[in-house]
Amino acid sequence: MAVAAKRAVASRTSKAPITAIASGKGGVGKTWLSVSLACAFGRTNRRALLVDCDIGLANVDVQLGVRPEADLSSVMRGWLELDAAVTPILGGPGRPGGFDLLPGHSGSGALAGLKLEEVHRIAQGISTLAPLYDRIILDCAAGVDANVMRFARAADRVVVVTTEDPTALTDAYAFLKLLRLAQPTAQPWIIVNLADTRASGRRVYEQLAKATESYLGIRPPLAGVICRDPRVGDSIRAQTPLCVRHPQSQAFEDVLRIAEALSE
Ligand SMILES: Nc1ncnc2c1ncn2[C@@H]1O[C@H](COP(=O)(O)OP(=O)(O)OP(=O)(O)O)[C@@H](O)[C@H]1O
Ligand SMILES: [Mg+2]
Repeated sequence: MAVAAKRAVASRTSKAPITAIASGKGGVGKTWLSVSLACAFGRTNRRALLVDCDIGLANVDVQLGVRPEADLSSVMRGWLELDAAVTPILGGPGRPGGFDLLPGHSGSGALAGLKLEEVHRIAQGISTLAPLYDRIILDCAAGVDANVMRFARAADRVVVVTTEDPTALTDAYAFLKLLRLAQPTAQPWIIVNLADTRASGRRVYEQLAKATESYLGIRPPLAGVICRDPRVGDSIRAQTPLCVRHPQSQAFEDVLRIAEALSE
């Protein structure tokens, strides 16, 4: 973040809520959703920071088609402070749809096999950036390993993404169960992505919420349903955010609605 911008927000007293986007099963749409949420917050004048926490297989920069000069590996090596590793996207916060990105390190695998203490240090560092933003989004790796749970612990809210696929649902349930064990005070939310219809997505949510209510004693609220939309794949292939390539798409409208639900 530029020094002037940093000074401008240094006097703020509020801290951005940190939202982790997680899932049990991989490939359910966490990364494009995280990018689109950051755009959605940028559209509504909220300063957003997106952190690529899929350490080892980072790919937010790939979906965005950017080549950041700095990333989390520079921070790990002690070359940079966390806030200096940020790359502005679409003009950065304050511009329509703009936000800051703290990239992972894609392609090299340099951050694979990271020790939990290092993840802990990054997670703590992210919390110190909260006064500079209105929203922080963590795009997590799929699954339930200790690194993912550490990032989830740093978050004020964990959004678990699932699809209608029974394997994704089973894995979402497992994630919620482990999250409950790791962090009993966690307040998870659910998003059903790649739904055939909004009604079928809601039915699937009800199924999952019923199971968590019966066996875990929690009923995570539904943040929203996102239908399958070919323009999502098209924007990823074009390495252009959905909010730029297809701002009128059903999927981006669903994300705008979710951004509001998460802001209530
Ligand atoms: N609503 C949607 N409509 C159409 N395609 C979608 C939708 N959501 C996700 N996809 C497709 O699913 C694929 C996976 O998306 P993405 O990389 O965001 O998932 P992920 O959960 O981050 O994966 P990983 O667990 O590997 O990190 C993409 O190729 C994208 O085209
Ligand atoms: Mg991803």
